[in-house]
Amino acid sequence: MKITIIGTINKDLILPFHDTPIESFGGIFYDVSILSQLLSENDEIYPISFVGEDISGTIDAVLQKMPNVRREGLITLPQKNHKVILEYTSPQRRREKSLFQFPPLEWKHIEPFLADSDMVIVNLISGWDIELKTMQKISEKVRNRLYLDLHYLVMDIDNLGRRSPRKPEAIEEWLKSARFVQMNETEYRIISEGYRNEVDFFQSCFNEDQILLITRASKGMLLLYERDGMIAHKTLPAFKIQKVVDTTGCGDAFGAGFVVEYIRSGDFSAAVEYAQLVAAANARLRGTNEMHRLQETMEEIKALNQLSV
Ligand SMILES: Nc1ncnc2c1ncn2[C@@H]1O[C@H](COP(=O)(O)OP(=O)(O)O)[C@@H](O)[C@H]1O
Ligand SMILES: [Mg+2]
Repeated sequence: MKITIIGTINKDLILPFHDTPIESFGGIFYDVSILSQLLSENDEIYPISFVGEDISGTIDAVLQKMPNVRREGLITLPQKNHKVILEYTSPQRRREKSLFQFPPLEWKHIEPFLADSDMVIVNLISGWDIELKTMQKISEKVRNRLYLDLHYLVMDIDNLGRRSPRKPEAIEEWLKSARFVQMNETEYRIISEGYRNEVDFFQSCFNEDQILLITRASKGMLLLYERDGMIAHKTLPAFKIQKVVDTTGCGDAFGAGFVVEYIRSGDFSAAVEYAQLVAAANARLRGTNEMHRLQETMEEIKALNQLSV
């Protein structure tokens, strides 16, 4: 299995709600470290991101320990790495600040990695990781195998680096560009302003081959797709977990889990169940520093939820 992930590796400083600070790599590093745990040594994971020269040695050393991660898609720039400060004001709510921005990735950085990927994930971590015209070129090549997490496309930035929600320009074009589109509930609310409900939004903004995944944190998720001219609309609860430790990266974990199970089985229902299991386990781990415990944490959650599979 070969998976390409386009986005940004962050240097995160997480200030959890009533807990000690966490310094870890974030952004698409969540996808990379999670996929590395879920896949075998023979699989291939290609992150495509700029890396700042302050962390390039460390990133190289860390990724070298992950036998299924390939580093050819990483490009070191002579600047500090994109840094994000995430300050939690409750277990699920946070304020964010973004420093040392990277320019957008270009087509030439991405094109060599598309041809034989089973899935291509575009995870918009800064929101300007790639421009729409680059996304459209990717879409021309691999739309059927393209997974988009809209994420920070929906967040504006002021001159102090503070992020706040906004409806992005040309959102309709972004929504149509990938077969699979993921967003969280807040992002959905911003984008779907003016539509009556999820079905109306789906019918108006998506084509019949597309799958929309709206994640709802501890409330679970909503899956929308069209079959035989009818819109299927499924609500699934989240897995019970003992205590939330750090929800940073739950959306990324969800996307990574979905892609793995979808490639394995081609079954949406199995893929969303697995996605939610991976995401719930991520909420039990601090930053990306404890990802080596992902599989055992997934087993604990299965036992807690009395799942046999
Ligand atoms: N407290 C929680 N308990 C169990 N699962 C959770 C919890 N928070 C998040 N998740 C899982 O993570 C998924 C993505 O979380 P969400 O917060 O919606 O995304 P994002 O990180 O993109 O904002 C959810 O659909 C759910 O499966
Ligand atoms: Mg997200």
